[in-house]
Amino acid sequence: MDPGLLLGELAEEVRTCEKCDLCRSRTKAVPGEGSGRSVVMLVGEAPGGKEDQSGRPFVGAAGRKLEGLLMLAGLSRDDVFITNIVKCRPPENRRPRREEAESCRDYLRREIEALNPSLVVLLGVTALKQFFPSSEISTARGVVVESGGRRYLPTYHPASMIYNRSLEAAVSEDFRELKKLLGR
Ligand code: URA
Ligand code: SF4
Repeated sequence: MDPGLLLGELAEEVRTCEKCDLCRSRTKAVPGEGSGRSVVMLVGEAPGGKEDQSGRPFVGAAGRKLEGLLMLAGLSRDDVFITNIVKCRPPENRRPRREEAESCRDYLRREIEALNPSLVVLLGVTALKQFFPSSEISTARGVVVESGGRRYLPTYHPASMIYNRSLEAAVSEDFRELKKLLGR
């Protein structure tokens, strides 16, 4: 089946999902979004306030950072597929709990299966830990890992650059590496 259609169906399921308690406090669930033909998937942590209001991933301050980073890789939002570990906003933007990530895990698995990306960028520690539980972000970042026929590139979360300017150079370097990995 066409990846775009599969991803559209999956998004519909996410919008009405009540598999964990985050469904109670959310305004809108935020399914993954982007090109069904992309070879690149980016995985963040969880929707924030703007995302919760609009139902779209990375549209707030972190989203503006992400768009700037994508430019370094010669990409725009339309060239990639953007999603999160959990699809509903945790109250006060706290980190998602392990059981929430577990409840939501199957949606991410199916997004990956539908898109079949060759490269998955893991944005921050929550995304990293879901895929590689024993890895540490400080040593894993910028190092490509091959697993199950896919390449994974962990980096810091774009929002962390807002709070810690010293991370900006590292994240920028990782997105320039992404450009090279894509042969651009
Ligand atoms: N931060 C994330 O991890 N995901 C979003 O969608 C927005 C901010
Ligand atoms: Fe469903 Fe995921 Fe939202 Fe929980 S976070 S309600 S599992 S979509």
